[in-house]
Formats: sequence, C-alpha cells, structure tokens
Amino acid sequence: MDYLNFVLWLLLASFAIHLFLSRLRQSKSRQGKLPPGPFPLPLIGNLLSIDNKLHRSLAALAKDYGPLITIHMGHLTSIVISSSSIAKEVLQDKNISFSNRYIGKVIQALDTHKYSMAWLPVSSPLHYYLRKISNSHIFLTSRLNATQHLRQKRMEELVAYVGKRCQSGLVVNIQEVALDTSLNLLSSTLFSMNVVNYDSNDKCEIKKNIQLIVDELGEQGILEGGDVLDGLLCILEDQNEELDRSQIVRLFVELFFAGTETTSTTIEWAMAELLHNPLKMRKAQAELNRIVGKDNPVHESHIPNLTYLQSVINETLRLHPPIPFLLPRTTSADVVLSGFTVPKNAQVLVNVFAIGRTRACGRTRTRSSPRGSWGPISASRVGISSSFRSVPGVGYAPGFPWLAGRCP
Ligand code: HEM
Repeated sequence: MDYLNFVLWLLLASFAIHLFLSRLRQSKSRQGKLPPGPFPLPLIGNLLSIDNKLHRSLAALAKDYGPLITIHMGHLTSIVISSSSIAKEVLQDKNISFSNRYIGKVIQALDTHKYSMAWLPVSSPLHYYLRKISNSHIFLTSRLNATQHLRQKRMEELVAYVGKRCQSGLVVNIQEVALDTSLNLLSSTLFSMNVVNYDSNDKCEIKKNIQLIVDELGEQGILEGGDVLDGLLCILEDQNEELDRSQIVRLFVELFFAGTETTSTTIEWAMAELLHNPLKMRKAQAELNRIVGKDNPVHESHIPNLTYLQSVINETLRLHPPIPFLLPRTTSADVVLSGFTVPKNAQVLVNVFAIGRTRACGRTRTRSSPRGSWGPISASRVGISSSFRSVPGVGYAPGFPWLAGRCP
C-alpha cells in the first residue's frame, strides 16, 4: 500500500512539474500563445492520441482542434498545419523563416543532413551548389528532351510485357511493374540504361549499382550523350568546379529515393481508383483512344492533351499523396503564424493528406472525383514551387514533364 501511495505521489509530482514547465515554456515564448491541441501527459506528451498512421491521427485531431495544432510527441513539440491557407503562409509568405529542415535523430544518425539537397540548410554552400547543378544539369527541359527516346523505349517495353502477360492469362502485379518502370525511366534519363528487368527476381541494390555505373561509364567514356551523367562528368573535368564522383553518386541515390516510389505508388493508387470506378476507367480509356489511337505508341507529346488522365492523377495525389507530410521544417526563432506562436526549434509538419481531404469550406472530401481542376494539394496551390525549397522532381516525375512548364 505504501508503495502504491509512493507511486501515486510520484506521478502527481511529475505531473505538476510538467505542468509548471510547460507553462514556463509558454510564458518564455515572445507571444506566448501556442496553437491549441490535446492536453499533454507528463513525459509521453500526446503519444496516446496518435498511432502508426500519423497523417490520419493528426487529420482527426485537426477536426477537433482546428487547422493549426500543437502536439507533443514525448519531448518533441510539433506544430501541425492542416489547411492550405496556413500552408501558404509557411511556404510562401514566411518561407524564409520556415526554410530549414527539422533534423530528427534518424537523419542525424545517417548524416543525411550533411550531404542531401533535401535536408541541408538552405544557407549552406553545399545546398546552394547542389541546387545550382540540379537546375543547370538535371531538372532542365532540354535534358529531359534529349533523353525522351529512351523513356519511349521503356514505355514500349512495359506495354510489351503487360501484353505478353495478358495473352498468357497471367496476372500483372501493378506494384512491381510500376516500381520497375519508374526505376528504369529515371535510370534512362540519368545514365541511359535500365537498372531492373521485369522478369528478373534479382532486383539490384541501387546504391552499389549506381556507384559502379558512375565509375565504369565515366572511365570508359561509353555514354550515349545528352543524359544527366554525361553533363555531370563534363563538370568533373572542369578544375574550377567543386563536384566529385562521390557527390554525383549521392545525388543520384537521392533522386532514386525521392523519385521512384513516389511515382510508382501514385500509379498503383490511380489504377486502384480506376478499377473501383469503371465509369471513370472507361472515360480515361476513351480519351486515350481519341488522343493516342488504339494500338499506337504513346508519346510524351500526347500528355498535355490527356486532360482527363491528368485529372485522374491530380485526384490520386489529392486522395493518396505518396508523401503524406511535406518534409519537416523548423524555425531558428519564435514565429507568429495565424495569430499563434511557433516556438523556436519546434518541428513544423504540413499534413498534405489532411489538406487534400478538406474542402476550402471545411467539408471533408474522401471520394474520388476527377475533374479538370487541380486538387487542393497541388504544388502551386500550397506554394511549394515558389518557396526556397521547391519540388524539383515536379518537372521530372516520369509522365509529368508537362508540369515543368506550368510551375514558376
Ligand atoms: C508523384 C511523384 C512525386 C511526388 C508526389 C513528390 C513529392 C515530393 C514532396 C512532397 C517533396 C517534399 C517537398 C518539401 O517538403 O518541401 C519532394 C521533394 C523532393 N523531390 Fe519529389 N515527388 C515526386 C517525384 C519526384 C521525382 C521524379 C524526383 C526526381 C527525379 C523528385 C525529387 C525530389 C527532390 C530532390 C526533393 C527534395 C527537394 C529539396 O528539398 O530541395 N521527386 N517531392
């Protein structure tokens, strides 16, 4: 009994200390008014209010507490944004204050924040340099155009593979096929070759293979010409440039991480949505027959005219964003956001999933409804494309080269 009393008193005391400290923390912040949120328990904060589907838990909490909330995950204070107007404030109006990433323990442990374009501070010279070579050698429309014939070949291989499976009465695993195709589309654009084979079980270890490819192709000079690696190896020869081989490998690995599963997951969800909506599937097929023609090969130049298919993709991204949160951001000082204070060093999360499922008027949207308009999560609507940290892949996502011309 004494022991039970002791534990109870201990719990009460830690609760009181926690309350006192959180009040103290609040009063220390200049404006002192954190966004609302569930009451945090001592030590664990709000961990009991969330589960492993964080985007869904936080979307549910936003319904109770509003589009700007504070959530405590243990010691970590996070500010979560679930409306496009507040996301615009962060990503456009106050993008200088919010341009740096929140570096969590995993990123720190892997040293990713020291090399990766996505995680380096925007003020670091390496970030500036990587952005510079990305803009001039990777995310460039003329580079994309130079390798169009290679992506065309990859599409023909895909159509042939699916056709062969269908003729033999075999199933097509959309997830696998979409991932393999995304990998090959990107590898063809970067260094003019396939990295996986549909029929092979031996899927490559991307990092090891990229290292080999960069070394071998660079030394033997057997590049097809016009691809990204070709351009980067030319920079290597320039004594005034700071680029080295290991940076090229890291950059390519980052592009593979950022650009393949995002694309293949979108394709998989789009197929799943269409299979559940036969009417919309027929409309998409009719458009393809009209614009491309039955049995004709599809070209990238067809894409701007495939407006219904574009709406299908936009709706898919709205309902099932492959990255449900933008990468976390932080501030180096207290910042006022929509009348509340975002404390210095807090983690700032933009819940793209929640924004996509909420109408501007506040009603929840969960059903798919492809129309000609952009969904609320589009980069331009939340202002990503004009912030310091733009989404470079937008002009690169296989199948979306048409986006490049639309974004500032
Ligand atoms: C459906 C396809 C894609 C989606 C939904 C997508 C989405 C995103 C999102 C949400 C971010 C984080 C933006 C932020 O937090 O500020 C991002 C960053 C990034 N994406 Fe993509 N992406 C896609 C395809 C691609 C492709 C194909 C590439 C490259 C080949 C790519 C390269 C990158 C890079 C390098 C970053 C980091 C940018 C930075 O912070 O400097 N993405 N993407």
